[in-house]
Amino acid sequence: ALISMRQMLDHAAEHGYGVPAFNVNNLEQMRAIMEAADETDSPVIIQASAGARKYAGAPFLRHLILAAIEEFPHIPVAMHQDHGTSPAVCQRSIQLGFSSVMMDGSLGEDGKTPTSYDYNVDVTRRTVEMAHACGVSVEGELGCLGSLETGMAGEEDGVGAEGKLDHDQLLTDPEEAADFVKATHVDALAIAIGTSHGAYKFTRPPTGDTLSIQRIKEIHARIPETHLVMHGSSSVPQEWLEVINEFGGEIPETYGVPVEEIVEGIKHGVRKVNIDTDLRLASTGAVRRFLAENPAEFDPRKFLKASTAAMKDVCKARYEAFGTAGNA
Ligand code: G3H
Ligand code: 13P
Ligand code: NA
Ligand code: ZN
Repeated sequence: ALISMRQMLDHAAEHGYGVPAFNVNNLEQMRAIMEAADETDSPVIIQASAGARKYAGAPFLRHLILAAIEEFPHIPVAMHQDHGTSPAVCQRSIQLGFSSVMMDGSLGEDGKTPTSYDYNVDVTRRTVEMAHACGVSVEGELGCLGSLETGMAGEEDGVGAEGKLDHDQLLTDPEEAADFVKATHVDALAIAIGTSHGAYKFTRPPTGDTLSIQRIKEIHARIPETHLVMHGSSSVPQEWLEVINEFGGEIPETYGVPVEEIVEGIKHGVRKVNIDTDLRLASTGAVRRFLAENPAEFDPRKFLKASTAAMKDVCKARYEAFGTAGNA
């Protein structure tokens, strides 16, 4: 059944678990997420970015999610719009039937330019007023995702600030977070702690200097009732990088957010964990391997089945690690 994200995250807070929010733009990702949820008895957050809408088309995306709800009626699903760049974008998603939207006012309408605090409060508060009138939840973001080493947002083609960020933009301030939540009434707050989108988050395994779980603890201590959201939370599995590179890929050495660090965050108020890149890596690795090992195959269902199975394994592992399993 379709439920609001607030309802789902309230349950997660009460029972001390986190919910992975997987990005979708195609059928195989959708099946992987739902079959994994079904097998582990987990609630699901399915999120779609502007890039996903552009790739699949809004009606296809909407009906893909509705089809998931129809096929798995016993699984609670929140249908979330990821990184909305304006109240108008969020309003269109609400009209499309999303039960949750992200108003990312940390960046301007171009999705690239860091904004002022007052701008962020203004667009987020307006979105909350409109969404709550429709029973839809809102995620806001305070601080900018980016590397604490380089100040760069990281991803070349995706969502993220352009240019170098200041150190104080890269770590959400606990006092400002408290003020922001009070001023906007957001249901969940995305915070900056050193993660970034995409596969190139850390040049070596992160330490407390490059990934600040400590900052999560400080924010949670200040606003214990607020559901915190970690973006850029793919773990970039080394085993999938090896498979990709073994079968013709060229991905340089890189590291993600270790699952055990996310689990530590979940102990301190993190309730939603955004994951896109890990499913992309698993899918690409599985397809490369399948085609290399089965050079005579040409039915896409064969290699897409391998892709789905690989993504499903990642989903199940996250549902189990984050404590989501058993809570559907
Ligand atoms: O927010 C970032 C997500 O990974 C979405 O990426 O814009 O390529 O769909 P995308
Ligand atoms: P990753 O690129 O780490 O998977 O993060 C996805 C994300 O934050 C989507 O909003
Ligand atoms: Na989001
Ligand atoms: Zn994100």
